[in-house]
Order: sequence, then C-alpha cells, then structure tokens
Amino acid sequence: MAAARQEYPTAEAFMPVKITLPQLREAAAGCKGCDLYKIGTQTVFGEGPRDARVMFVGEQPGDQEDLAGKPFVGPSGAMLDSILEKVGIDRSEVYVTNAVKHFKWEPRGKRRIHSKPSARQVAACKPWLKAEVEVIRPDVIVALGATAAQSMLGPSFKVTRQRGKALRKTTWGPCVIATVHPSSLLRAPDEAARHEAIAAFERDLRAVKKEMDSLKGAGKRAPQAARRIAEHPGASARDAAAKAQPGLFGEPSAIPTRRRGRRSRH
Ligand code: URA
Ligand code: SF4
Repeated sequence: MAAARQEYPTAEAFMPVKITLPQLREAAAGCKGCDLYKIGTQTVFGEGPRDARVMFVGEQPGDQEDLAGKPFVGPSGAMLDSILEKVGIDRSEVYVTNAVKHFKWEPRGKRRIHSKPSARQVAACKPWLKAEVEVIRPDVIVALGATAAQSMLGPSFKVTRQRGKALRKTTWGPCVIATVHPSSLLRAPDEAARHEAIAAFERDLRAVKKEMDSLKGAGKRAPQAARRIAEHPGASARDAAAKAQPGLFGEPSAIPTRRRGRRSRH
C-alpha cells in the first residue's frame, strides 16, 4: 500500500478559516505546501501593522531571517530601512513580507548559501501573500526583485524595464510598484556602482511615497481580486484536505461548516 501522502501542492490547504494576521501566522507556521518546510528552520511570516499603507514583498527569508523568524532583519533589511528613512516612509506604515516564506539554501562549507526558489515553490506559497494582501489592503505594494514581481505580475514581467513605474488598479490593489531587491545594492561591484544603485533605489521609493501620498488609504476601500480567497479554487482543495485529515485545520469536525459569507477578516 502506498504511504499516506503528507504533502500538498500549495499552501492553500493550510489556510485558516478566519483570515486574520494572527490566524494566518499560526497556520503558516505549520505549512507543508511545498518541500521547503523541510530545510528551513521555521516559516518566516510577514510583519507589520494591520493598517500598514505600504507592503514590501521580498523573495524569501535569508539566513538571519530564518533563524530569527522575522523578515528583513539582516543586511538587506538594514539597507531597506535606511532608504525608507531617507525618503520619509515611516516604519509604522510598513508591512514587510516575502513571496516565499521558508529559507531555501545549500550548504557551502559551514555556511548556508541562498538558493533561488523555483517557480513551483513561489506558486505554492502565493496563497499566503494573497491572504496578507487581503488583510492589510495596502495602498501600494512594492515588489522587491524579480521573484516577487513575477509572483505578482506574471513570469514575463521585467523589473529592469519597469522598475519604479506605478502600475495602477491591479488585481492586487490600487498600485503595485516593482524595483530591484535591496540585496543587489549590497552586491554592487565597486563604490561608484553602489552609489548609483542606491540612488536608483531611492528614486523608486520616492515614487512609492508619492503614490502613498496620493492614494491616502484607497487600498482599504478598493475591490481587489486577490482578496477573494474564498473564491479561489484552493478553498475547495482545503475542504477536501480537511475531510481527509480531520483536525488538521484546528476544526473540531471533519465536515467544513462555514459558508463563504461567514468568513471574517477581523
Ligand atoms: N531578503 C528577502 O527577500 N527577504 C528577507 O526577508 C530578507 C532578505
Ligand atoms: Fe508553505 Fe511557503 Fe513554506 Fe512552502 S515555502 S512550506 S508553501 S510556507
């Protein structure tokens, strides 16, 4: 007889019934939506206030984030923080997260070297990102680097060509802006290149600030396709999984009883 399957093709099967930040965080901690849960120390969920007006989406947690369980606490985070401060975006308005919530790495001697997540892993993790957007409803979502940009805007999206450009009325919310990943600033080959890379990133974040200033909370009111998690095909996958494994989602019975209209986001 075949062994019971323990893996799910996406994170969708692990979505909580109630889409709130604490419930999402707790549910994501037990996610096995792709194989990365086996090599990361822990799920690194997004962080920031529920009323944040801007959401920054990175690629995946790095070594330090994996150990701390918090996004952007390492060198990339320090770089991001310093430029946020420079352009006048208050940390209290910011939610930070990643396209993929587990650290993917390869051993190199005693070090753990970042390894790029596959398109499949990015797709598997996308339900968490959608749910975060559903709760936060930011005015502006900033995709940091190609992985985040392509997860949100499709595989042919080119950050190099479109960086800093405000994409309006997207399915994710009223405004999405893509830029490079802050780690690329740290990798600049010399001082002049680094200086230029930082200046370009700063320009992109000024564009973000400008959109925030003009949108003034519109994200909280706008309809967003990404928000309609209950209508996502995964909702039925989750029900099927709940039936197969009672108790997996913290529900007392194997029979899902909720209705779409009863889902709450508070
Ligand atoms: N790089 C990312 O993309 N995300 C983090 O959280 C840290 C580094
Ligand atoms: Fe789940 Fe995402 Fe972690 Fe994969 S990377 S196990 S989908 S949280």
